[in-house]
Amino acid sequence: MTEIETECPQAQDGQPDDCPIVVEGLRNAFGEHVIHENLSLRVRKGEILGVVGGSGTGKSVLMRSIIGLQQPDAGKITVLGHSIDESADEEDDVDLRSRWGVLFQGGALFSTLTVGENVEVPLKQFFPEIGDELRAEIARFKVRLAGLSEDTAYKYPSELSGGMRKRAGLARALALDPELLFLDEPTAGLDPIGAAAFDRLTRGLKETLGLTVFLITHDLDTLHAICDRVAVLADKQVIAVGTIPELLALDHPWIQEYFNGPRGRAALGARDEIAEEDAAEAMITPAPSGETSGGNNSADDSSANNNSGNDSNEPGA
Ligand SMILES: Nc1ncnc2c1ncn2[C@@H]1O[C@H](COP(=O)(O)OP(=O)(O)OP(=O)(O)O)[C@@H](O)[C@H]1O
Ligand SMILES: [Mg+2]
Repeated sequence: MTEIETECPQAQDGQPDDCPIVVEGLRNAFGEHVIHENLSLRVRKGEILGVVGGSGTGKSVLMRSIIGLQQPDAGKITVLGHSIDESADEEDDVDLRSRWGVLFQGGALFSTLTVGENVEVPLKQFFPEIGDELRAEIARFKVRLAGLSEDTAYKYPSELSGGMRKRAGLARALALDPELLFLDEPTAGLDPIGAAAFDRLTRGLKETLGLTVFLITHDLDTLHAICDRVAVLADKQVIAVGTIPELLALDHPWIQEYFNGPRGRAALGARDEIAEEDAAEAMITPAPSGETSGGNNSADDSSANNNSGNDSNEPGA
């Protein structure tokens, strides 16, 4: 492995290190088809880790392994200090699954439920004691938190644009105030303006809610604009983890072609552009809210840092 820095900041005074996700020696195979072999990765608390790799290199399978939907053949996965394996105590397991939220690659909303009802699904699953009215109110709040207008809660997924569906999926992933957010290709299929808005939303939510984000993407603008570090999947492993400048310094053909090819170079300004847009927006509207401001409208959510969120189910998958 071309390792830049996969370790977390040093553990202190016998405390566990500050990595909410630790993957060691992972092996996944479907029959003869080996997807991961001795793959290791550490995700640091509070970072947005971009995960890249060619199509079919196993990014989604890695995510599914981390959230316990794919049973690996070998290796050890620890999430928020808990081991992810079949032998996990069921109560522990439910508690753990309530601390992350997932936006699956296909969106995976229930088409027969409204957006609000979709957001209510994990609330019902993990907190059945919450009354109907409060649950609906929480769902409407999450819909707004994801940058959608409140009336979207009453619409069906088929009535939404692709970008709105992504946000609806995000609202559901945020249903229970997760500590970890897993996003699988959140900007795929969005136009560049919609994608940039979703990026700003993701970063805003991360900063406001203190989330750690595992972000699978092919979108170079997203990688440049909002990711703190990027992990590269190739040859069945994570071959490197680091900032984009650190990755660019590596002499690996795929990494060079990906980040230093024409599209990679064109994306270089994305972080500056988003920062400039944020600054301009702040000058015009000191307290922005709504479609593109994401986390900014969460300041009144005193419960936002209570960590109990999840959407580990994958409806329709
Ligand atoms: N349930 C499954 N059964 C058999 N093979 C599978 C299964 N899930 C995934 N695979 C295979 O594992 C490999 C990795 O799939 P994965 O979906 O993780 O790729 P990916 O890196 O996310 O690709 P993309 O960028 O296209 O989303 C692929 O070859 C895929 O066909
Ligand atoms: Mg995938």
